[in-house]
Amino acid sequence: MNFVSSIDGAVTSDGTSGALGTPADRRLFTLLRELSDVVVVGAGTVRSENYGGAKPDAATRDRRLARGQAPVPPIAVVTTSAHIDPRSRLLTDTVVPPIVITGRAAPEDRVQALVAAGADVVTVADDAVPTSALLAALAERNLNRVLCEGGPSLFGQLLRDDAVDELCLTTSPMLVAGGAGRIASSPASSPRPMRRAHVLADDDGTILTRWVRERPGRL
Ligand SMILES: NC(=O)c1ccc[n+]([C@@H]2O[C@H](COP(=O)([O-])OP(=O)(O)OC[C@H]3O[C@@H](n4cnc5c(N)ncnc54)[C@H](OP(=O)(O)O)[C@@H]3O)[C@@H](O)[C@H]2O)c1
Repeated sequence: MNFVSSIDGAVTSDGTSGALGTPADRRLFTLLRELSDVVVVGAGTVRSENYGGAKPDAATRDRRLARGQAPVPPIAVVTTSAHIDPRSRLLTDTVVPPIVITGRAAPEDRVQALVAAGADVVTVADDAVPTSALLAALAERNLNRVLCEGGPSLFGQLLRDDAVDELCLTTSPMLVAGGAGRIASSPASSPRPMRRAHVLADDDGTILTRWVRERPGRL
């Protein structure tokens, strides 16, 4: 899981996370994508951030190939509504087709429009996408190293299901106030102890942290 937040815990400034980014955070964002088989994201983030596909440079593609990975990781979007514009960057500004994982409540015309626009659409047998079905759909495609870029609702579900092994959290050197949410949200709390694995500080004040799920009794 990868997130950026302000010092006061805001995940957005003026509606998107872009203004929170710093050079160190952008470098980490790119590196995490390089290492992943797939980038998973909730549809709310795709809509508000106008997500396009990943576009690794030639050197990155070569390193991925040398590791036995596909040159470009697809974006996988979870959505109950399939409310994704087929003309949006997700489908039109991408090197590889996105994967759209949705449920049986999604309107068929929207699903068909996404298929026609080139998406690899998976429909699971529930209204929303259970974490187990999400991971199974990715594993079927041999996408096992999963990077999730949020947003907070999806992170909340994954925490509830204890499916988060690591969190990379960047603290951006700014205060935001306003009504922005936190990095994880869900109807009920799901306390998960985490172990600090890395703390890096950049000269501009950015703090990069990496937290690993603490599982007592397991290595
Ligand atoms: N600071 C950061 O690093 C960061 C990262 C990511 C996002 N954000 C911000 O977070 C905000 C979006 O928050 P959010 O909580 O709405 O984001 P989200 O989790 O990306 O999106 C929620 C939506 O994703 C879909 N979804 C999530 N889990 C699902 C599941 N299990 N099954 C089916 N669909 C599922 C649903 O889409 P449908 O409505 O289509 O059914 C749901 O409404 C944006 O403002 C974005 O900029 C910040």
